[in-house]
Amino acid sequence: MTPIYLDHHATTPCEPQVVQAMLPYFTEVFGNAASRGHSWGFEAQAAVDLGRERVAAMIGASPSEVIFTSGATEANNLAILGALARQAKRHVITTAIEHRSVLDPMRELERRGFSLTVLPVDRDGRVTPEQLKAALRADTALVSVGLANNEIGTLQPIAAIGEICREAGVWLHADAAQASGCISLDVAALNVDLLSLSAHKCYGPKGIGALFVRRRARVSIEPLQYGGGHEKGLRSGTLPVPLIVGFGVAAEHSAKEADSGGARLARLRDALWEGLAAIGGVHRNSPSIQVLPHNLNVAFDGIDAELLLLELREFGLSTGSACSSANREPSHVLTAIGAPPRQSVRFGLGRSTTEADIRRVIQRFAEVVPFVRDRDHL
Ligand SMILES: Cc1ncc(COP(=O)(O)O)c(C=O)c1O
Repeated sequence: MTPIYLDHHATTPCEPQVVQAMLPYFTEVFGNAASRGHSWGFEAQAAVDLGRERVAAMIGASPSEVIFTSGATEANNLAILGALARQAKRHVITTAIEHRSVLDPMRELERRGFSLTVLPVDRDGRVTPEQLKAALRADTALVSVGLANNEIGTLQPIAAIGEICREAGVWLHADAAQASGCISLDVAALNVDLLSLSAHKCYGPKGIGALFVRRRARVSIEPLQYGGGHEKGLRSGTLPVPLIVGFGVAAEHSAKEADSGGARLARLRDALWEGLAAIGGVHRNSPSIQVLPHNLNVAFDGIDAELLLLELREFGLSTGSACSSANREPSHVLTAIGAPPRQSVRFGLGRSTTEADIRRVIQRFAEVVPFVRDRDHL
């Protein structure tokens, strides 16, 4: 039986047109975009410019507001550690369910003497604008809230949070790594000053991402690394032209695809939930509204999810204990919302997922869940 990949929160495949667009930039148009004296350099620079325009267009930004990084991890680190490097204000705010690439730099700031507030979330993984407002202090410099959670898909009320931050003169950073590719993004409507993106979450190549830095917000960012002064001195290092080309094509397609593709995925996800719920003893960890269209996270009563997935190896799925990082600690996201990490499975649907795939997943889970429950209770 053909295996079915349902782990699109971990990564997505590169679309064929993305790979096609990248190929000439490895061999034929291989110049260094920083070479100013010949056509190889000019052509590479033109490709970078186009990639930057396409990424900017996906989020409604101007190209000059896009800084290329190696991915969302680096974009988050640059946004948090870079923006706070020379700040007189010493308080920062985030939430309990952020990705480690936000939480860890926040903890690092704490070690450097900053005061950190970690907002708790409700059962849906959500923070409210009121909660955020109450946590603001006169010395708050930055708020970082993930636009879409990578485990339970929660969409946060970023636009409302942004309004509060702007009124208070506080920068708002949002990690949007999971959002691009399946929901439309508009940095103006979102009221964000900084936004992190990752190409491999939206059918582009791994190893490239971007940080949007709003020009008018006047966020003064210190680089995390020094060198040739690329990307306005914020991210020195020779630009990976093929990856930027691929990111651009993926971003352009994602912007076109977001609404219709997202609606299709939401229908499939709802059908999946209906089918799984009918098995009995299954609980939904993801919210049912204001959630990523391709996400479903569920807990199976009386079952160790890792043992369950061993019986279902034909599916590419992730458990709550494998978490998003390289360690195998129980998920801090599921723990924060009071869900049982060890019993939880994350489904991440994607552009290639079909109705037939969903029927097969439901059928196999309906066979295997009762079997594993019985076996492990003997
Ligand atoms: C919400 C979120 N932020 C950041 C990252 C890190 O992205 P990258 O792999 O591009 O460094 C991920 C990837 O797992 C993610 O899901």
